[in-house]
Amino acid sequence: MVPSSLKDEPQCHKAVFLKLFNFSLGVMIIGMVLTLFPGFASTATPGFPLEAENGNAEKAAETLLKWKSTLDNQSRPLLSSWQGENACSSNWTGITCDLPGVVTSLNLSNMGLRGMLGALNFTALPHLVSLDLSNNSFRGPVPQEVGKLRSLIRLNLYGNNLNGFIPTSIGNLSNLENLCLAANGLSGPIPQEVGDLRGLTILALSRNSLNGSIPTSVGNLVNLTVLLLHFNNLSGFVPRELNNLTRLVQFTLAQNELTGKLPENVCLGGSLEVFTAFDNRLNGPIPKSLRNCSSLVRVWLQGNRLSGNITEDFGVYPKLKFIDLSLNRLSGKLSWTWGLCSSLESLRVSQNVIFGEIPPMIGNMTQLRVLDLSSNYITGGIPHELGRLFLLIELSLYGNNISGDIPLEIGLFSSLAKLNLASNSLSGPIPAQLGQCRKLWYLNLSRNVIQGSIPSEVGNIQFLQILDLSSNFLEGKLAQDLGKLTALADLNLSHNGFFGSIPHSFYDMLGLVSVDISYNDLEGPLPDIKAFRMAPYAAIQNNKDVCGVVAGLRACTSSSSKKTNRERGKKLVVRITLSVTSTSFLIVVLVGIVLLAGKRCKNKKCNLTELSTGDPFVVWSYDGKLVYRLIVEATEAFHPKYRIGEGGFGAVYKAELSPDRVLAVKKLHSLEDGEVVGVTSLQREVKCLANICHRNIVKLYGYCLHPKHSFLVYEFLERGSLRRILKDDEAAMELHWVRRVDVLKGVANALSYMHHDCFPSWIHRDMTSNNVLLDADYEAHVSDFGIARLLKPDSSNWTSLAGTLGYIAPELAYLPVVTEKCDVYGFGVIAMEVIMGKHPGDLISISGPSSSSLAKIGSDFLLQDVLDRRLSPPMGRDAEDVVSIAKLALGCLQVDPRRRPSMKGVSLLLPVQVPLAKPFSEITLGELNSFGC
Ligand SMILES: *[C@@H]1O[C@H](CO)[C@@H](O)[C@H](O)[C@H]1NC(C)=O
Ligand SMILES: *[C@@H]1O[C@H](CO)[C@@H](O)[C@H](O)[C@H]1NC(C)=O
Ligand SMILES: *[C@@H]1O[C@H](CO)[C@@H](O)[C@H](O)[C@H]1NC(C)=O
Repeated sequence: MVPSSLKDEPQCHKAVFLKLFNFSLGVMIIGMVLTLFPGFASTATPGFPLEAENGNAEKAAETLLKWKSTLDNQSRPLLSSWQGENACSSNWTGITCDLPGVVTSLNLSNMGLRGMLGALNFTALPHLVSLDLSNNSFRGPVPQEVGKLRSLIRLNLYGNNLNGFIPTSIGNLSNLENLCLAANGLSGPIPQEVGDLRGLTILALSRNSLNGSIPTSVGNLVNLTVLLLHFNNLSGFVPRELNNLTRLVQFTLAQNELTGKLPENVCLGGSLEVFTAFDNRLNGPIPKSLRNCSSLVRVWLQGNRLSGNITEDFGVYPKLKFIDLSLNRLSGKLSWTWGLCSSLESLRVSQNVIFGEIPPMIGNMTQLRVLDLSSNYITGGIPHELGRLFLLIELSLYGNNISGDIPLEIGLFSSLAKLNLASNSLSGPIPAQLGQCRKLWYLNLSRNVIQGSIPSEVGNIQFLQILDLSSNFLEGKLAQDLGKLTALADLNLSHNGFFGSIPHSFYDMLGLVSVDISYNDLEGPLPDIKAFRMAPYAAIQNNKDVCGVVAGLRACTSSSSKKTNRERGKKLVVRITLSVTSTSFLIVVLVGIVLLAGKRCKNKKCNLTELSTGDPFVVWSYDGKLVYRLIVEATEAFHPKYRIGEGGFGAVYKAELSPDRVLAVKKLHSLEDGEVVGVTSLQREVKCLANICHRNIVKLYGYCLHPKHSFLVYEFLERGSLRRILKDDEAAMELHWVRRVDVLKGVANALSYMHHDCFPSWIHRDMTSNNVLLDADYEAHVSDFGIARLLKPDSSNWTSLAGTLGYIAPELAYLPVVTEKCDVYGFGVIAMEVIMGKHPGDLISISGPSSSSLAKIGSDFLLQDVLDRRLSPPMGRDAEDVVSIAKLALGCLQVDPRRRPSMKGVSLLLPVQVPLAKPFSEITLGELNSFGC
């Protein structure tokens, strides 16, 4: 029996337990109380008769041990300190006891524990004040009996895999101040009983699948400073009662199905900093209290149906950094007072009903990086004052009625990555100064009334990927310099008055994917490059007289185009032809040292000396024919059922020669045309590679060249490629944060070794998640080192030039010189892929080559929002690791190869844990990016 709870002892309750955020303080105070009043423990606390409480500790121990036994194999050893009969007597991990024998705190956060939460018998721990199991993998529902923990002040189950409903009994926890159930799989409604928790200051239920409406009783929680409800499936009206919550600092409703109005008084108390309600179906006006809410830092209300007059509804916000009001129904004019928001970095108000001119005062927001006013009814010119926004990365004004010239100040935007002025009434010429925007990757001036020719300076925008100048009044000959835009992927020059022939320099646009030159006056041969060959007739039609490669066009009479191409090919490509005559049965096999399992790898310098044949571990010696036969037999001549993956240069097969000798065999498909590097060179290089012995590099045993089947023979790694693991939900969840960090450390070590510790040094040239393989212990091994060079010396094929699309360093688009820094870039992509759980495709291509390829436009993304959702958000050390990785990755993705760190630098920095300067949940990609590495 527990005669009376802690609550009945006022001194205890107030002095000790209210400040549970600093629990140790509580313990200290108890200690002091006991020192000052020696009789206190036995007489003044009727709730803690000592003899009864030892029984309590035993009961607690029994309960905890029972729970431990239900946890999985990997979890139990983490709680090895849990033994004996008294949970308070020794150093039980995560257990704090106050008065002898009373377990008051159970803190097992961030331990990677797995098991059922419901298997813990809460009734045996009646005096718990703090229960923190955050960031583990506990499953099952939150049991009703949690409501019996009447002393609980802090309940944190954040970041587990809990499901089921939130128990209504939670309303009994009348001392609760901090309730965090976020980032689980909880469903069902938010129980009305939550409103009984009058002492709550933090209520975090975000990132679950909660549905139903927000109970009106939440309005009782007048002490709330943090109310997080985002990323659920909540519907119905936002209760008017939330107007009572005047102490809110963070209030999030984003990504639900909420309707109706936002509460008017969200910022009545003047402390609101973060307010997000984007992607709901809210309508009605902008809350009145927001107008004078000078504490605001981040406001995201985009994607609703909010109405109101933007001129009147917003005020001056000295701390505001990000505001997005896009896709609503706001009307009125942009007020000049935005110019007073001196911290603002991103202002997005696209797709509303905004009239009037762009106020020149906007030029005063000197921290501005993103200005998006697209799809409104804005008139007037682009003010010259905008030229003061030196930091601008994105300027989107498309779909308005803006007129006048494009101001020459545009050349001052040295960081500009994306410029979209399409569908306006802009006239005048394209300013030559645009050529100074060297970081631009997206340029769209289509559907205006722009005149003149394309200034040759545009050819200087070396990273430009998308250029749309269609539907203007441009004319003249296309400048030779446009051919310098070798990074270009989309080019639309249609519906203008260009004439003359297409300059030869266009042959260099090997990355071009889509081209449209229709409705001009062009003539002569089309460049024989892929984009033109693949172009539909519609993209070429209505010109004066073009000929050549496009279906439906007449062939050119002179073969000038083809000749040029061929000459060029000869010049660029050094081909050493290997004559693999079909009759010769050529096997050049096997540098093959198969290291028997258990033989320790020693790091060796890579050199070109012959392998020692006296090595006791040589199993195959040089009997290549035998090995060739064994492998072909084991794979039934490369039957698809043995196929385990697809590498850069061919499919990979599993060849099980015997139960303890399993190999990975990469069958090459690029040898048919006979264009590989000379055979002796291949031999030499493979020998050299086979000599490399590093725990993070896949061992290459040898190779077979044969007219029928040519292949490379590798060590077999049980878990396959990183890409495959990340694609498979289950496998990806096994790859928890700690493992992910270790994988990247392994990859960095491998690259660092090959770049810096090996002589001659090796460049991988094709770093992708496909080439990172994991063994049974999740240790990373990089495969295919240098194979790209061996097998693809021919650089005429742009995409295979070096690497795989999506991982290719941007400089390779214009300068086919592969350096170590290309591998560093590939590593950056892989690092992002590992923390995001998928290729960062969008994030990289959205921002394109600005100073860092990543995160410029995505700079207002929160880091936590791009992380792999299949894992619980990282906490503690994991969070520190993830932040350092993201920071390093962004540094590695710098467009300028010189600014990327070396792999040595990365491998030294990766294990360093830097304490977070601010809460993890507030870190944006933009901030990380500014550090570089
Ligand atoms: C969200 O709720 C709606 C009904 O309100 C339901 O149709 C939908 O399936 C739910 N979505 C999820 C992801 O639970
Ligand atoms: C918005 O407010 C301004 C300033 O009070 C006013 O001049 C304007 O007419 C209003 N616009 C609309 C569309 O109501
Ligand atoms: C090029 O621009 C024109 C007019 O703006 C458009 O109709 C056409 O679809 C565009 N072509 C391509 C390939 O996108």
